[in-house]
Amino acid sequence: PISSEINESKKLVVGGCQLSELAKKYGTPLYVLDELSLRTACKTYISSLNKHYPGKSLPLFASKANSSLAICAVISSEGFGLDAVSEGELLTAINGGVKEKDIVFHGNNKSQDELNFAYSNNVTIVLDNYHDIELLKNIASDNKPAKLMLRFTPGIECHTHEYIRTGHLDSKFGFDPDELKSILEELKTYKWANLTGLHAHIGSQIFEVQPHIDLAGVMADALKLAKEIGHPVVDLNLGGGLGIKYVQEDNPPSIEKWVEIISKAVVNACRERNLDLPRLMCEPGRSLVANSGLTIYKIGAKKVVPGVRTYLSVDGGMSDNPRPITYQSLYSACLVDKPMNTNFEKVTIAGKHCESGDVLLKDFLLPSCESGDFLAVFGTGAYNYSMSSNYNRIPRPATIIVGKGLAELTQRRELPEDLLQLDVLPDRFIPKN
Ligand code: LLP
Repeated sequence: PISSEINESKKLVVGGCQLSELAKKYGTPLYVLDELSLRTACKTYISSLNKHYPGKSLPLFASKANSSLAICAVISSEGFGLDAVSEGELLTAINGGVKEKDIVFHGNNKSQDELNFAYSNNVTIVLDNYHDIELLKNIASDNKPAKLMLRFTPGIECHTHEYIRTGHLDSKFGFDPDELKSILEELKTYKWANLTGLHAHIGSQIFEVQPHIDLAGVMADALKLAKEIGHPVVDLNLGGGLGIKYVQEDNPPSIEKWVEIISKAVVNACRERNLDLPRLMCEPGRSLVANSGLTIYKIGAKKVVPGVRTYLSVDGGMSDNPRPITYQSLYSACLVDKPMNTNFEKVTIAGKHCESGDVLLKDFLLPSCESGDFLAVFGTGAYNYSMSSNYNRIPRPATIIVGKGLAELTQRRELPEDLLQLDVLPDRFIPKN
């Protein structure tokens, strides 16, 4: 899905840049973001929404998938708003040029400081629970009401990894559906609260479409209720969740198809209930950015366990991509300078961290390779950098954006010294002589 090609010297090129050249220039591991793929995904969302839900939609980028100034600048220039869940993501969005009115602020445990920041920047706040309301009472005033959406748990099950399911009733996110009426009535009594929308999100990496069709119905019921109670609700936000193809077996619907289905579902559900069409919001994260990213690693040590497995170790691992160890996620990869080689062997790509489970690809068929070869792992544009850590005090990789033959740094590589910067050694630990 990333727009790649193989050049005359049979080397892999993305965004007009030969990947092995990038690896040599910027070092490895290296996150590479292809601007054209990202813009194409944005344009596909926008044009599909315009086609199936004309004139009344705002897609938001779920920035938890990959938050950086450069990505915020790209998605906002394509007409996207943004979903943020922390002051850090809010700050990145605002500095990356996303308009405050197009930002929604989520979270099941927002702090007073975060809410102050969101409110004073006129960002839409998604009420998740009563605690949010108590904290907002401290700041929102009747003459400057807080712009709010209400998140509730829709009670919809979907088949994805247990850790990334959010719509079922036993979820930490959102108001329980049984509380919906009373919370809507309570909000009506607060002049400082301006409820403009409803939100629900059912999970991530979803391939089925029925859960989102069901969600449209559940949300239209909630919309009807909110209007009956007298709220000026104009936005219906169906969250994100569209899955992507990481490996051959994955079979997600296309962005176009998904947008068509959710649009029609909302239109039908509203017609059935005699409701004016709300503005339709959705919050794609993974399906917007995952496939525009890849990670280049350098292969180092090789260990053959006779009759069992061949391990090839790379210079990154679970600190730059914690998804395999966290969710047993599968990835695809290829050798950047031998993409056409058909002399396959079965290998296991291990990271360099002190954990046996630090494996990026298990029993994967790769052209025979040697130490020093560069490996590209695909689909790492979402939930890699954003979930990265410094485990084993390994610095985070750099990110570069490529397009039309140009490569530009968007995040510099961390250095071991950067990590020391945050340490403070109390004087009494410093040896006296
Ligand atoms: N909106 C809300 C409220 C969300 O909680 C999420 C994801 C999204 C939108 C975007 O969902 P997407 O379109 O990316 O599926 N770390 C996990 C994924 C966690 C998703 C959390 N919420 C992973 O690496 O698979």
